[in-house]
Amino acid sequence: MSFIVAIDGPAGTGKGTVTEIISKKFKLLKIDTGATYRCVTLDMINKNIGIEDLDKIKDLLKNIKIEMKMVDKEQRVFLNNEDVTEKIRSEEVTKLVSQVSSIKEVRYSMVELQRKMAEGKDVIMEGRDIGTYVFPTADVKIYLDADLDERAKRRFLQYREKGINMSYVEILENIKKRDENDRSKEIGALKVAKDAEVIDSTTKSIKQVVREISAIIINKKEEIKQLKKIYKIRKETPWKKFVRCIVKAVLRTAYRIAFRVKISGAIPEEGAYIICCNHINYLDAAAIVLFNKRKVNFVAKEDLFMHRSLFWLGHLFDAIPIKRNMQDIEAMKRCLKVLKNGELLGIFPEGTRKGMEKNMKAKNGAAFMAIKGKVKVIPVGIHGIFKPFSKVYINYGKPLDLNGYTKENIDEATELIMSNIKELTK
Ligand code: DC
Repeated sequence: MSFIVAIDGPAGTGKGTVTEIISKKFKLLKIDTGATYRCVTLDMINKNIGIEDLDKIKDLLKNIKIEMKMVDKEQRVFLNNEDVTEKIRSEEVTKLVSQVSSIKEVRYSMVELQRKMAEGKDVIMEGRDIGTYVFPTADVKIYLDADLDERAKRRFLQYREKGINMSYVEILENIKKRDENDRSKEIGALKVAKDAEVIDSTTKSIKQVVREISAIIINKKEEIKQLKKIYKIRKETPWKKFVRCIVKAVLRTAYRIAFRVKISGAIPEEGAYIICCNHINYLDAAAIVLFNKRKVNFVAKEDLFMHRSLFWLGHLFDAIPIKRNMQDIEAMKRCLKVLKNGELLGIFPEGTRKGMEKNMKAKNGAAFMAIKGKVKVIPVGIHGIFKPFSKVYINYGKPLDLNGYTKENIDEATELIMSNIKELTK
């Protein structure tokens, strides 16, 4: 599994320098996505292709070869086998690149290339849309920002050092224009990803920014290490079974003291089934797990396993951690394995607590597993207020056969499950 750090933000925030340092510190492959758009721009300039000439641009994209190679311990950019590391930073390219990168065909082609470059590797990728579009599931997402004046000042000093003669006002206007263009792109516009850490570097030194990002990366790596432990398919041992029996009995007693549990219906004593219930409280999964003779392998969002005690319980009850908002192939494989072993799989099709109440569309994961694993679904309705000594009702329905449903009408299969669950919550 690769580790991806996404560094997004407007021009002049120090992304390039920070990315360079972090890539060396954590041994991550550095991918400067801006350089790929710069290569296309340079190729267009070299071939005299105008921004409106879409057919010629498409042809150019078919044949373009962009590579990032290490030469004397330094990463260099190659366009059609020529080292263009310096050329792509020219004023001519810089002026045009934002417009070029707005062309849909260019974006599709470059995003495909960027994803390919990162395939199976540990990378740090710098750009505008990495955390939002290129790798929305990146492990670490940083949005680096800074005041416009400060960014222009930095560029001005950089240019002066390189001997490029450009006034401060000109640079400021250029950056402003690029910002506007980058933020209004139809695809891959510059914006803050919902789950990104925003770092404002206006008053911070590079060292400070690197320190903050390093801390975020170290934390994430630690989290992943913990998760990897639980992702390992654990073998059932007599000792684990024994501990689970004891823990189950203790927690069941505690549950019975806290709530008055009323159960109707039951789960068949043998065979693989998917148990689908509504999700109103964190304690509803516990009710199903504790008040069943058989082990129910519940699917739960992976963040839950970050808590030490839940991590341990998750292990003991063979819970399956799942990444939210994405297709988690690893988790799906584990679910199918549970079913293949003739065990019970527990899923909340709502995907979140009180999804039905909030009128949210249920997820198709349970129906998908049932169809793929060729097993029946047992709908369960739970209701109660989960206040001390209040009643908690667990109503098991009759197993639903999803035979005949396919990927094409999976929404209907999910609706069938949900309507049965709804009936059982009355
Ligand atoms: O980071 P840079 O200045 O080298 O980027 C060059 C241009 O490419 C910039 O105007 C924005 C665009 N770009 C983009 O649209 N998406 C990216 N992921 C990276 C850069």
